[in-house]
Amino acid sequence: MARTSIFLLGALLLLCFWTSIGEANTEYLEYKDPSAPLGARIRDLIKRMTLQEKIGQIIQLDRANMTADIIKNYYIGSLLSAAGSVPAPKASPQKWVDMVNDFQKGALSTRLRIPLIYGIDAVHGHNNVYRATIFPHNVGLGVTRDPDLIKRIGAATAFEVRATGISYAFAPCIAVCRDPRWGRCYESYSEDPKIVQMMTELVPGLQGDIPATGRKGVPYVGGKEKVAACAKHYVGDGGTINGINENNTIVSQYDLFHIHMPAYLDSIYKGVATIMASYSSLNGVKMHANRAMLTGYLKNKLKFRGFIISDWQGIDRITPTLHENYTYSIQESILAGIDMVMVPYNYTEFINDITTLIEKNVIPMSRIDDAVKRILRVKFSMGLFEAPLTDYSLADKVGSKEHRELAREAVRKSLVLLKNGKAGAQPLLPLPKKAPKILVAGTHADNLGYQCGGWTIEWQGLDGNNLTEGTTILKAILNTVDPSTKVVYKKEPTSSFVKSGGFSHAIVVVGEPPYAETKGDNTNLTLPLPGPDTIQQVCGEVKCVVIVISGRPLVIEPYLAKMDALVAAWLPGSEGQGVADVLFGDYGFTGKLARTWFKRVDQLPMNVGDPNYDPMFPFGFGLTTTLSSS
Ligand code: GLC
Repeated sequence: MARTSIFLLGALLLLCFWTSIGEANTEYLEYKDPSAPLGARIRDLIKRMTLQEKIGQIIQLDRANMTADIIKNYYIGSLLSAAGSVPAPKASPQKWVDMVNDFQKGALSTRLRIPLIYGIDAVHGHNNVYRATIFPHNVGLGVTRDPDLIKRIGAATAFEVRATGISYAFAPCIAVCRDPRWGRCYESYSEDPKIVQMMTELVPGLQGDIPATGRKGVPYVGGKEKVAACAKHYVGDGGTINGINENNTIVSQYDLFHIHMPAYLDSIYKGVATIMASYSSLNGVKMHANRAMLTGYLKNKLKFRGFIISDWQGIDRITPTLHENYTYSIQESILAGIDMVMVPYNYTEFINDITTLIEKNVIPMSRIDDAVKRILRVKFSMGLFEAPLTDYSLADKVGSKEHRELAREAVRKSLVLLKNGKAGAQPLLPLPKKAPKILVAGTHADNLGYQCGGWTIEWQGLDGNNLTEGTTILKAILNTVDPSTKVVYKKEPTSSFVKSGGFSHAIVVVGEPPYAETKGDNTNLTLPLPGPDTIQQVCGEVKCVVIVISGRPLVIEPYLAKMDALVAAWLPGSEGQGVADVLFGDYGFTGKLARTWFKRVDQLPMNVGDPNYDPMFPFGFGLTTTLSSS
């Protein structure tokens, strides 16, 4: 009898349990209803969240050493791939998709199933990914003064990023670089804020156009071929003392709001979803702890509705020594208005510290709720809740011919012709496609890594040709000249080799090796060796055009007289064919300098409009050529 009663009781309890689960599964959850108003979804979700679930949303971790279980157990809301942080060397788009989906399933296995947003530095194409299209860096794109081109580049980049399962790009960099000694000057479109404002068309390119029914100034990301963008680095990153990276930008209010700020207003108006704080300081105040500028101006004055993300360990650099007082860094940055922290590794320390700060009410829950609401607004508005996982359907678009042709167009328009013919002589360019024998020389003529620059496959970029797929300038020349033209390539020829070679003319490609961030800071800006020597050896013996591959203007005066022609090609990326297109006259040179080309470093900083403006080549300068008849 007793045994029967126990059995019946157990069965009854089990029935009650399954019924409750069943009801729970049928309970209407407004936040999961895509037809519900965005505000209602946010309010409904946030009221269901525990403190730990909220803290998880404001953390962004690097994918390295990350697992789906960590994501699930700590409710992590965002991951990133730092430059070079890839699922495997030369990983296919499908492998990227599998990696991101695996992490996403960790987030979707939590109680509230809030999807991850995964970010990456797709700053000149999807540049971490093998075979992706690598577009010219911003220093060249600013030369084009072509917002439509930039928008198309944004769309192509977003397509390739989404093809790999990623939904967030840390671009555009809208720094206004005012001193080319800055290692990141090539990430800046121009010294002129008006050009940088023009280039914010990358935002609708990446995110999509705000629909007529939408509201300007509100984060908008439209569809599975678009990504959330990130205007960076707020604010004044390009104006530091002597271009010293992450240093102090001492600037008048007039210059702050007329030089460094305008492009942020354009970006917000165009619906940019996120803004990244700068490592640098503004008039002595660390931007990551600058409440007046993050909350007072960006959120309260400009009504920015997206989220502000820190830079990589950006909060750790608030203190004079990295990470010297992490609790203080968390407190100051979150109270200042940072909404998501790129931690990127020590998540348990961050979680423990911020939990204590909240429980002690040092950080009020209202600040955490504001940050979480902003993050949820972006995630809801970009459809992540409805479509958190990716398939392979876009994978074949990575590095597609269509995108490479677009990059080739951008290369053509980014070139600046600074000299064409010695005094009293005929112009050298465009070069004839048909010539008995030509010489191609220089360290940068056949080096895909050099022509792509930093932020390509690896953070600091790479040397050589096997980092990814593309067309070197040498290959492009071989593709373009008449089959009867003999092309001789020698990286560092001697003058006797040149003299005895019987060459009708030479193409010399020299410049800077790749670099990124502080490693690119440079106080002398001389043309790196062996460039000067190659110019000397070649141009002393035969008519030559020198093509400079660099992230910025360099000291060129000592060699200028020897050259018959000089082209600034900046960092053209994977599609070197664009250089040959213009060199041989299939297209004319159209580019105009978007940066002042100084004479001597001791003139710096020197920007258009400055008193005592005495450049080698002024802002806006650029010679043109007619199309070739051959
Ligand atoms: C870097 C850069 C920033 C980048 C971030 C994530 O240090 O400052 O531009 O988006 O870290 O890689």
